[in-house]
Amino acid sequence: MSKKIVILPGDGIGPEIMQEAVKVLNAVDNKYKLGLKYEEDCIGGAAIDKYGVPLASSTLDKCRAADAVLMGSVGGPKWDALDSNIRPEKGLLKIRYEMGLFSNLRPAILYPQLADASSLRPEVVAGLDILIVRELTGGIYFGEPRGIRLLENGERQGYNTYVYAESEIERIGRSAFEMARKRSKKICSVDKSNVLEVTVLWREVMQALAKEYPDVELTHMYVDNAAMQLVRQPKQFDVIVTGNMFGDILSDTGAMLTGSIGMLPSASLDQNGKGLYEPVHGSAPDIAGQGIANPLATILSAAMMFRYSLDQSAVADDIEAAVGKVLDQGYRSADIYSPGTTKVGTSQMGDAVVEALGG
Ligand code: IPM
Ligand code: MG
Repeated sequence: MSKKIVILPGDGIGPEIMQEAVKVLNAVDNKYKLGLKYEEDCIGGAAIDKYGVPLASSTLDKCRAADAVLMGSVGGPKWDALDSNIRPEKGLLKIRYEMGLFSNLRPAILYPQLADASSLRPEVVAGLDILIVRELTGGIYFGEPRGIRLLENGERQGYNTYVYAESEIERIGRSAFEMARKRSKKICSVDKSNVLEVTVLWREVMQALAKEYPDVELTHMYVDNAAMQLVRQPKQFDVIVTGNMFGDILSDTGAMLTGSIGMLPSASLDQNGKGLYEPVHGSAPDIAGQGIANPLATILSAAMMFRYSLDQSAVADDIEAAVGKVLDQGYRSADIYSPGTTKVGTSQMGDAVVEALGG
């Protein structure tokens, strides 16, 4: 089996953490004789510097031709002043949209070794394992018309459009129901159907879909209540399915429940399971270049890549177990450090995972 992976390190801490993920890829490539092939390219600010745009069409072509894409993170103060159309974030939004990566899986898992890292009491979060399924290529992020216009009275007005077609709701719903079937068969669909028509439709489509999945229990919650319940009693949730913007917000909350956004991977999948894998955290420009960033979210994203796009779930299990072992050994990057553990830098953490993989 020969598999082609495009590596997009991106900006900020992206290149540092990606270097460690590549170490891990090399280690499993050797161990399992996978015949991985990599091609590296730029996205975000790095692509603006190199190509003048946050995602070059040649990069997009490479990604389309590959079996999977592994990305670091995009953005940073250097590019903040640019026109909103060529900001680094646009590169990420474009690759999601152009590759049809509508299904964003964002697990929030609390590693028992890190129970103290959460800002919530340990008993509230112990054993937490939630999956947020976020719609990623529609909703208010992509709705037209959008912009800032001049009103007749001379003041400016900003506007965006929140739209979902039934087919868009149905396909993300299916993704979530399929995931729920492999877990505890419970889905909570999050909307704002007491105010927004677009989510009245969202709720209707989810209810209709539920008839095809009688083994899965579907409940609904308004987004404001969901935000509250996530910090009040997060373990009431298993799979949460929601639109693009609500998913953006709730997944950051979900991440923080685990105390360590530096630990959380994500997958963005198309209709055929091809995908882009990236850590949930951002480019952390404040610590970039210092060798202290936590590479585990990117390494765990690589694990998800083996599971969902490369059909190698044993490799995924192995990487995840190696991360667990490294935590058991007491290695901690600065973001998850607590007294009594061993503080390590980015590359030492990568080395520790490689070591734990043996092979
Ligand atoms: C995320 C990020 C992105 C988003 C930004 C960087 C465009 O916040 O992946 O959650 O809003 O989707
Ligand atoms: Mg976000």
